Amino acid sequence: MGKVIVVASGKGGTGKTSFCAGVSSVLAACGNNVLVVDTDYGNRNLDIVLGMTNCLLFSFADVILGRCDASSADVEHPDIKGLYMLTAPAIKLPKGVTREGVRKLMERAQSSFQYVVVDCPAGVTDYIGMFAACADLCVVVSTPDSASLRGGELMASALYRWGVPEILLTVNRVRPRLVQKKLAYNIDDAMDMIGVPLLGVVPEDEAVIASSNIGCPLVRAKRSKAMNAYRNIAKRILGQDVPLMKI
Ligand SMILES: Nc1ncnc2c1ncn2[C@@H]1O[C@H](COP(=O)(O)OP(=O)(O)OP(=O)(O)O)[C@@H](O)[C@H]1O
Ligand SMILES: [Mg+2]
Repeated sequence: MGKVIVVASGKGGTGKTSFCAGVSSVLAACGNNVLVVDTDYGNRNLDIVLGMTNCLLFSFADVILGRCDASSADVEHPDIKGLYMLTAPAIKLPKGVTREGVRKLMERAQSSFQYVVVDCPAGVTDYIGMFAACADLCVVVSTPDSASLRGGELMASALYRWGVPEILLTVNRVRPRLVQKKLAYNIDDAMDMIGVPLLGVVPEDEAVIASSNIGCPLVRAKRSKAMNAYRNIAKRILGQDVPLMKI
C-alpha cells in the first residue's frame, strides 16, 4: 500500500501547492509512481503550477460519484514520467462527496501508487479532516510570520485531535536577512510555536513564482534553491538522512 501525505495549513498562501508540486515531481523523478491530488475545489491551481491545465477532464468528485473511472481522472504529466494528477472540482463540491467516498478514493489511490500527495485548501475544517483521516503523514506548511505560525499551530492541534499518525512541519519562504535582523522568526521559533518536528525548510525563491507563471514545473528549472529544498524533503520522505540546507 502506498503512503498518503496530506499537506495542510491554517492560513492561506503558505506554499502548500508549491510544496506538493515540487516534492511530488522529485518523488516521481526518483522512480516512484505518484498521484498528486488537488482538493482545493473552487480555487484549484495545482494544474497551473504543474503546467497541466489542458490535460485534466475529470475531478476526484467525479470518481467518488462514479461519473468516471479513476484511470480516466488520474492524468500522467506530459514530461514527468510516473507523476499523475487528480484535480478538484472547478467550482463547488457536488453533494454526495462523503467521508466514506473520500476514504474509498484514497484507498484505491494507495493500492495503485507508491505515494499519494494531497494538496488541501487552507483552514481547519471537517472537509480537511476527511482527507487527514486517510493520512500516514500530514505536513503543515507555514511561513515564518506570526499569522501563519498561529494558523499552523491550530492546524497541528486539529491533526493531533484527528489522530494523524505522523505530523511534520515545513517552513517556507525563509528570508535569512530578515531572520538575521530579528525581523522574522527563525526555524527553532517556528518549531516551538507549531509544536511539531521539522521536515524541511524552503527559502524564498523567485523561481517558484516564475515557474508557475510560465506553466513550467520548478523541477525543470536549472538553478532553484527552493527546488533543492524540495529535493531534500523528498529524500527525507524516502527515508534518506539529508542534513538541513543552509539558507
Ligand atoms: N519558496 C517560495 N518563494 C517564493 N514564492 C513562493 C514560495 N513558495 C510559494 N511562493 C508563492 O506564494 C504564493 C502562494 O503559494 P502557494 O499557492 O503554493 O500557497 P498555498 O498554501 O497553496 O495557497 P492556498 O492556501 O491559496 O492554497 C504563490 O504565488 C507562490 O508562487
Ligand atoms: Mg494551494
